[in-house]
Amino acid sequence: MTQGGQSKIVHPAPGLHGHLQQPPGDKSISHRVAMLAALAAGESVIHNFLPAEDCMNTLRAMEALGARSFFSEDGALHIHGTSGQVLEPAGPLDLGNSGTSIRLLAGLLAGYPITLEMTGDESLRSRPMSRIKVPLEEMGATVDLLGPDQGVPVRIKGGHLHGITYALPMASAQVKSCVLLAALNAPGTTVVIEPRPTRDHTERLLQTLGLPLTVDGLRITLHGPEAKAAPLPARAWTIPGDFSSAAYWLVAAAARPGASVIIDRVGLNPRRTALLDVLQRMGAKVAITPQSEAGAEPVGTIAMQGGRLRATTVGGDEIPCLIDELPLVAVAGALAEGDTIIRDAAELRVKETDRIVAMIANLRQLGVAADEREDGMVIHGPARLKVAGSVRSYGDHRIAMAMAVLALFAPEPVCINNVSCVDTSYPGFWNDLKTLGGHAE
Ligand code: S3P
Repeated sequence: MTQGGQSKIVHPAPGLHGHLQQPPGDKSISHRVAMLAALAAGESVIHNFLPAEDCMNTLRAMEALGARSFFSEDGALHIHGTSGQVLEPAGPLDLGNSGTSIRLLAGLLAGYPITLEMTGDESLRSRPMSRIKVPLEEMGATVDLLGPDQGVPVRIKGGHLHGITYALPMASAQVKSCVLLAALNAPGTTVVIEPRPTRDHTERLLQTLGLPLTVDGLRITLHGPEAKAAPLPARAWTIPGDFSSAAYWLVAAAARPGASVIIDRVGLNPRRTALLDVLQRMGAKVAITPQSEAGAEPVGTIAMQGGRLRATTVGGDEIPCLIDELPLVAVAGALAEGDTIIRDAAELRVKETDRIVAMIANLRQLGVAADEREDGMVIHGPARLKVAGSVRSYGDHRIAMAMAVLALFAPEPVCINNVSCVDTSYPGFWNDLKTLGGHAE
């Protein structure tokens, strides 16, 4: 594990080349599978679980609730579930940096007769939580937001829930999943209506477990139990590679004529892969070979060949399907010919940091002309990158890694401050950079 506040100097790379055979497990799916396995009856075996800080926080929380887990020698995670008998934790659950953990756990636990408090790091304490309080209270739980500005810590008093129909005010898979997981213990029918399509891992996993969930366009319906919910079944899971982690190498290769990167066993859920459409529009060559289904998720190989990129506009329904890749779209925009516009992306302001502010400041630091917009940004490319002293991660893993990708194109090494946050989602990032021919120290 890296030390807090550590910096990295990233050296220019003439072009990444190579083959990643096993990208790290998908973070969103790892969280969800750990939660569901921890409530199941019996032992679930999980292959390619992501042992990054965010997911380990979920796992520790599930242990505090009564599940038992261990990693076997082959790296698989074994979870002995609680059969739906959840213990009241002795103290507050600390979810660190992880918005997915706190929002999904709030829903998952809202139907149990326990009171629990959840807290996290400075970033998590600044993130909006009334978005989960509103639907969970409508379902019958009591949710107190104990932090300043209606934020973390969150205290939940589980209640006798009932199904609701809820139109999400924002396109958020975390809020959607919070309501769907609460619905597992809510007699009656719960309907969630999304304003735009967001990642649907929760829906796929619940269907795989045999739960009565149906999807009709943007409307998701889950029939809750008549009275007490039956325990979920234990089973084996294989987590696909994380497209959002693969994305760093895809952009690094896409923006350099002659570069080429192949990544195997990546999740290809269409609600996650809009970046591929964007990069193709910008001039990169992408070849996809579907491999298999890992559980309910499509998986395959992506081969990316670089080209001379041209600017594009990204907005509308595309946004939730590349929400975590938008810092990388800004990087691609800096290297492309013309003005790249990102709009309809105000949700970026409530991520681990305000990613619009962070990217604008860092891009300018490296000599890229970029304008801030309320709901996105405009990047004027192609930039002649200057030799910068340093850029900052803002404590946000995706900002640190996106800036590392841009640094590969700078004329001189670039220092990125405070990169320990990379461990929240991609502890092997610097090793994989090396495997593909990059160099950081
Ligand atoms: C996630 C959903 C997204 C994403 C986050 C993970 C999830 O957040 O940004 O990194 O696992 O459901 P929102 O749903 O709040 O947009």
